[in-house]
Amino acid sequence: MESVGSMKVVGGSASVPLARGIAKEVRAGFVDVALEKHPGGFPDGERYVRLLGAVAGEHVVLVQTTHPDPMIVELLLLADAIRDAGARRITAVVPYFGYGRQDKRFLDGEPISAKTIAKHIAVDCNELLTMAIPANPEILRTFPLLTREVSGMPAIGRYMKSAKVDVLLAPDEGALRLAKEASAVAGVPFDFLVKERIDSYTVKIEPKALAVKGKSVGIVDDVISTGGTIATAAQELRAQGARRVIAACVHGLFVGKAEANLKACDDVIATDTVLSPHTKVSVAPEFAAAIRALG
Ligand code: R5P
Repeated sequence: MESVGSMKVVGGSASVPLARGIAKEVRAGFVDVALEKHPGGFPDGERYVRLLGAVAGEHVVLVQTTHPDPMIVELLLLADAIRDAGARRITAVVPYFGYGRQDKRFLDGEPISAKTIAKHIAVDCNELLTMAIPANPEILRTFPLLTREVSGMPAIGRYMKSAKVDVLLAPDEGALRLAKEASAVAGVPFDFLVKERIDSYTVKIEPKALAVKGKSVGIVDDVISTGGTIATAAQELRAQGARRVIAACVHGLFVGKAEANLKACDDVIATDTVLSPHTKVSVAPEFAAAIRALG
């Protein structure tokens, strides 16, 4: 694979495995970061960062998911330290963009939180790459630095191909484009689930066109949070005779009763944008390609 000249990669503590993967893909040096000044860190929980390698004159790719909140502080501290250390260019890779959901002012007096975070990233960073932002992607155009959204679906498609699924389904029409993109890589047909209300107490959920009886089915979504969406879909697919159900998402947050909800699936996989026990797929190749495309 072609290397990118004069580049270093730095990873914040939320994204070290992905940062290492990106460094390998683009054949750039990896700069370690010390995260504790004193064993156990600061007693009040404040973050500490220190670059353990030189970045002067380099194009630095700084990788850090902004979830949970202390990871935002770490990102800003690292960006400042990298700029102060003489980097010539900083590309922020924010795999999961926390606060993306607040992409407009719903009520007077609110901030547009997604833009707030972007404004602070723009203080030291030249450009921003992110993935499946949980917002209207139009918000990216309002950010005060060049921003590109990178798709994680090729990575999920590769996994689904190796898992030999027969069909890929989106849990709703909104996620159809994700299923379509992953299916192009997996080489299987795609569809989406439609919800039909039978009466006040009953809803029927089934694929729009494809039958799942006896099939190995993959469900793809951008985010799994409580797992409720996927659990409902998986239960219905099983009721319709699906032989195996594999759920996949880009961002696996797995909050609340997610683990219990997801027992309805044979396998649950997520990418390394957010680290969890379900992280089984890396989006390093996708970010590496996007970094090369920046030129
Ligand atoms: C919704 O628009 C998203 O695409 C996901 O389907 C949703 O965030 C999943 O949430 P949960 O896992 O809590 O059902």
